[in-house]
Amino acid sequence: MRVRSKFIVVEGLEGSGKSSAVKKIADILRQKYGLVDLIITRDPGGTLLSESLRNLIKKGVNDELITDHAELLMFYAARVQLIEQVIKPSLSKNIWVISDRYDLSSHAYQGGGRAIDVMLLKALRNLVIKNFQPDLTFYLDVSPIVGLSRIFIRDTSLDRIERESLDFFNRVRSCYRLMASKNHRIITIDAHQTLQDVHKEIFIYLKKWLMVQGA
Ligand SMILES: Nc1ncnc2c1ncn2[C@@H]1O[C@H](COP(=O)(O)OP(=O)(O)OP(=O)(O)O)[C@@H](O)[C@H]1O
Ligand SMILES: [Mg+2]
Repeated sequence: MRVRSKFIVVEGLEGSGKSSAVKKIADILRQKYGLVDLIITRDPGGTLLSESLRNLIKKGVNDELITDHAELLMFYAARVQLIEQVIKPSLSKNIWVISDRYDLSSHAYQGGGRAIDVMLLKALRNLVIKNFQPDLTFYLDVSPIVGLSRIFIRDTSLDRIERESLDFFNRVRSCYRLMASKNHRIITIDAHQTLQDVHKEIFIYLKKWLMVQGA
């Protein structure tokens, strides 16, 4: 493919189908477009340090309460490491990057869910992200009940964030929907559909988008 490499992100609540969608996007790019220079990553995660922070965020340390600000800073520490060590170097080598979550998750979970002050989030974002945004984001929209019940079937032990209340996830979802409605680079997909239909919709959009990019 002659098009310069892109940074594609999948976002959504737990059980919305992000990990399945990320694999699907990679399969489409490899099989239909012959792309070999492509990596899949996840936020938080994707480097040794960021994966350790992911583990800390998800499991906590014994019973110690993690404050909202400490959690927020761990997410951003993991993210800045991922950006500088993996995403930017890959893109500069013309390698495509597909990520399971990115900065929109902090808008939604820390801003919407935890109600952290917008000015603080903005300041952190300016410091860490600056203008570095994905070329395309798929937001998989699912209700918390449907999403969480899918997760629960897979694994009955929930992590620190998965144990949050339905109210929390409803706030996260509202925030996601609002952000998606304001940004044309965020494509909302109804993730209540069958997995097959979700993937079909992603494929159709991706094909159109790649055509516009000159692929
Ligand atoms: N549209 C769908 N219909 C039915 N089942 C689905 C759908 N999307 C995903 N699932 C199933 O729900 C489970 C969670 O999907 P997946 O792991 O892709 O979601 P996720 O968003 O990555 O979750 P997490 O936030 O926990 O990482 C899997 O078992 C998957 O097969
Ligand atoms: Mg997942």
